[in-house]
Amino acid sequence: MRFETKAVHSGAGADDETGAVSLPIHLSTTFERTVDGAPSHGFSYIRDGNPTQAKLEEALAAIDSASHALAFASGMAAVTCVLQALPPESHLILPDDGYYGVRALAAEYLPRWGVTSDLVQMDDLDAVRAAVRPDTRAIWCETPSNPLMKIVDVAELAAIVHAANAMLIADSTFATPALQRPIEQGADIVMHSTTKYLGGHSDVQGGSLAFARRDAFSEAVAHCRKITGGVASPFNSWLILRGIRSLSARMRVHCENAMAIARALEGHPNVEAVHYPGLESHAGHDIAARQMSSFGGMLSFNVRGGRDEAQAVTAKTKIFTRATSLGGTESLIEHRASSEGEGSRTAQNLLRVSVGLEHADDLVEDLTQALSV
Ligand SMILES: Cc1ncc(COP(=O)(O)O)c(C=O)c1O
Repeated sequence: MRFETKAVHSGAGADDETGAVSLPIHLSTTFERTVDGAPSHGFSYIRDGNPTQAKLEEALAAIDSASHALAFASGMAAVTCVLQALPPESHLILPDDGYYGVRALAAEYLPRWGVTSDLVQMDDLDAVRAAVRPDTRAIWCETPSNPLMKIVDVAELAAIVHAANAMLIADSTFATPALQRPIEQGADIVMHSTTKYLGGHSDVQGGSLAFARRDAFSEAVAHCRKITGGVASPFNSWLILRGIRSLSARMRVHCENAMAIARALEGHPNVEAVHYPGLESHAGHDIAARQMSSFGGMLSFNVRGGRDEAQAVTAKTKIFTRATSLGGTESLIEHRASSEGEGSRTAQNLLRVSVGLEHADDLVEDLTQALSV
């Protein structure tokens, strides 16, 4: 079955009891047991799992070509759970460019249970090889990365990781399973902030982990979620499942619009650099063209000047809303260093854009007028 069909039909089907085509939301926190204490229908307590979340997990596994998946309350709940499940005293390799929350978790909390980490320029495979230690248990990659849209070759990275007897965990939030499925390229675990494109409408928070196989580590992660409690609520599971139904159609327009904007910005006199893997000038373009079916709806660019000049652009847009996050139907623009706050590694003249589903010409015109001085 092709991706588009899987996205519409996985975890779906008319409700057994009522024939409802849209799945019911099961809000029950507890489930009846048989006299001998066993769950009568496979569910016992909401934190361990619930029927609406189970449907979402079926769909998440199907669209990422995974053996199974776990749904979480947020992307960071998913990140935290998988990293908490690493054995104590593990070493972790993280990308130098990536979601700042993962770096903060690694710096502030992972050392408390003995997990150490190093930041590595992940698109330099020799640097990755050099960073691997005997106690390295996992390499975390993010491709395209946040906010510089760096691309890493997942298959090459998987070969390095597996030769070191470690796991490759890929944050594929920006690409979504519609454009890239890292498990097919050798990753062991795929993580998404489902708050973004999978939800798709800026109205639900969630996270997911999809596993290449069921093994002792995936069981350890499931146990960790049950104990620490970062599970997805039934209503949020339902909203994310609904978002997945239209994911491939939405991604087509996000990608088309982003490409039009990237091309327009590339030639603009007030733009210093454009970071979009669809551009031939992007360092990771060839790899992206191989491992993604299209280049995504996220891009960033450096405005000529500094913080003031960049923020002045965000003051002038009429269609782009000044806000963080991404993956909704509406276009957003943000001064990324301000959003990341203290400890940000992002250049002060960098703006990040989440390209929405408006008409490409309106978006290009809006950015062009905002960039004019
Ligand atoms: C690439 C990436 N990974 C992880 C996260 C964290 O997800 P959440 O905000 O759902 O906790 C984000 C959030 O922006 C993100 O952009």
